[in-house]
Amino acid sequence: MKTILITGGAGFIGSHVVRRFVKKYSDYQIINMDLLTYAGNLENLTDIDSMPNYTFVRGDITDIEMVNKIFDAYRIEGVVHLAAESHVDRSITDPAAFIRTNIFGTFNLLHAAKEHWKGNMEGKLFYHISTDEVYGSLGDTGLFTETTSYDPKSPYSASKASSDHLVRAYFNTFHLPVLISNCSNNYGPNQFPEKLIPLCIHNLQHLKPIPVYGKGENIRDWLYVEDHAAAIDVIFHRGMIGETYNIGGNNEWTNIALIRALCDVMDQKLGRAQGTSQQLIAFVKDRAGHDMRYAIDSSKIQEELGWKPSLQFEEGLSKTVDWYLENSDWLENVSSGAYEKYYDKQYNQR
Ligand code: NAD
Ligand code: TYD
Repeated sequence: MKTILITGGAGFIGSHVVRRFVKKYSDYQIINMDLLTYAGNLENLTDIDSMPNYTFVRGDITDIEMVNKIFDAYRIEGVVHLAAESHVDRSITDPAAFIRTNIFGTFNLLHAAKEHWKGNMEGKLFYHISTDEVYGSLGDTGLFTETTSYDPKSPYSASKASSDHLVRAYFNTFHLPVLISNCSNNYGPNQFPEKLIPLCIHNLQHLKPIPVYGKGENIRDWLYVEDHAAAIDVIFHRGMIGETYNIGGNNEWTNIALIRALCDVMDQKLGRAQGTSQQLIAFVKDRAGHDMRYAIDSSKIQEELGWKPSLQFEEGLSKTVDWYLENSDWLENVSSGAYEKYYDKQYNQR
């Protein structure tokens, strides 16, 4: 029995990773440590929360005593670190939380792993989940590779870049066995509706305007969340210690083209006349420092570890819309109360 600590397992990507590991590896004890911020939701895990190899611990990664307690109590041998503040717009209005959780929290976990594994690093692994946003913004051509220089532009990406550097420093200085992956934009079930795709689905359902920043010409490379979880599984088990792997969907869309495609899917699924949803598109003030283009070269993980995305975007988008329409209670629960205040503050000033 191997005990793995997954941080941020109640969030969007974390919940898919926890589900995959709990179901697939009955010989692993999975400890999910999550603070349950606005983005963490135990409803994401109701299908697996009574499995014997799963334990949830509410805790803050910025609290070193709590982190040490978990390492002591469960004799942690592996870490998959996803807990983070993850939304660029929030990092513009409240950067302090990003510095605390993403930098200081990652430092605490590294420090605890180093202290607890001292003298016996054999079989141990600290796997840090990061983003392609650390590489900055691309022009019309080119792709981010594992050797692209870091050039983060937002407080979010700067805090993630900083955490990546700390992970590499612990590898170089203390020989902590680490892995890092940097992934492109994820989409799929359980994503909090502050991010583009679930926000649009929610607004379209309620016939509310869809806020498109600037001219909608920014480009993102989209990957279905379960494909990211599959990549994390492969890297955790077969990645070379000390290495970095880029993960991407090879699936670039301008925001406006993606939104138009999503509008058409929504019209079709809701039985609305084609074109109804597109009338809700509203161009609003651009995000400050808005990165123009992200695109990932994922040939390293494809060639060395045999992973590749399994879903075409059209299929993934259709599955995603189905999930939100079938789980409208989930969407309504997370988009009441504090979310409404956030939404008013974020969008009424634009
Ligand atoms: P999310 O915001 O949906 O979830 C983050 C989770 O971390 C939540 O459950 C939250 O409660 C928890 N958390 C936050 N602060 C915490 C703290 N101090 N202590 C313990 N738990 C805390 O994020 P996500 O989209 O699932 O992203 C997960 C990870 O993947 C992040 O590290 C993010 O940088 C990275 N990533 C995300 C994307 C994406 O498109 N969403 C792409 C690439 C990489
Ligand atoms: P987002 O989902 O916030 O992810 P990220 O900023 O990490 O890429 O945004 C995806 C793209 O959509 C990004 O270019 C910003 C844009 N966007 C909008 O145009 N309107 C919105 O309301 C949101 C949330 C994002």
